[in-house]
Amino acid sequence: MKRRKTARRALIPGSFDPVTNGHLDVIRRASTLFDDVVVAVLANTGKTPWFTARERVGLIEAEARSLPNVRVRSFGGLLVDFARRARATVVVRGLRGGADLENEMAMARTNRDLDARVETVFLGASSGTQHVASRLVREIGLLGGRVDGLVPRRVAVAVRARAAALRKAARS
Ligand code: PNS
Repeated sequence: MKRRKTARRALIPGSFDPVTNGHLDVIRRASTLFDDVVVAVLANTGKTPWFTARERVGLIEAEARSLPNVRVRSFGGLLVDFARRARATVVVRGLRGGADLENEMAMARTNRDLDARVETVFLGASSGTQHVASRLVREIGLLGGRVDGLVPRRVAVAVRARAAALRKAARS
């Protein structure tokens, strides 16, 4: 069998608004499966994000510091175009369960239709992270609940601060 000469680079795209323990589990596991990993933070999510792209990148970088083969970048436009620029042919997405599947399959198919070289692989959520979603983190944060079990400490602090600012803005 022919040996592969080029490094296998994976992209992990997402909104990461904010990064959760579920995302970090996928990033850690992908970093052991691929030569290097680029976490691709979608800059313009369509909705107004809680955190700027720069803040989202910073939060992931801080948590992924111990993983030498992981870089974090923001991107705009089509994922397949960013994949081409980043020289990555594999997209990794986490799957929490059946509810994710339909949407994820549609995205994977769309990306492959747009660029046949881009293959998506799915990593099933580890036990303990199946229920974790950025949307829930924001909702709990806004209602004053604790998000400590869902995100790392640094992210929980950032969520509390943003939630407090949003509540203050809503009062004035
Ligand atoms: O964390 P999310 O919000 O589930 O991530 C969705 C993301 C960023 C992977 C997806 O929206 C995306 O790739 N957007 C870039 C635009 C694009 O390429 N769209 C066509 C393929 S679905």
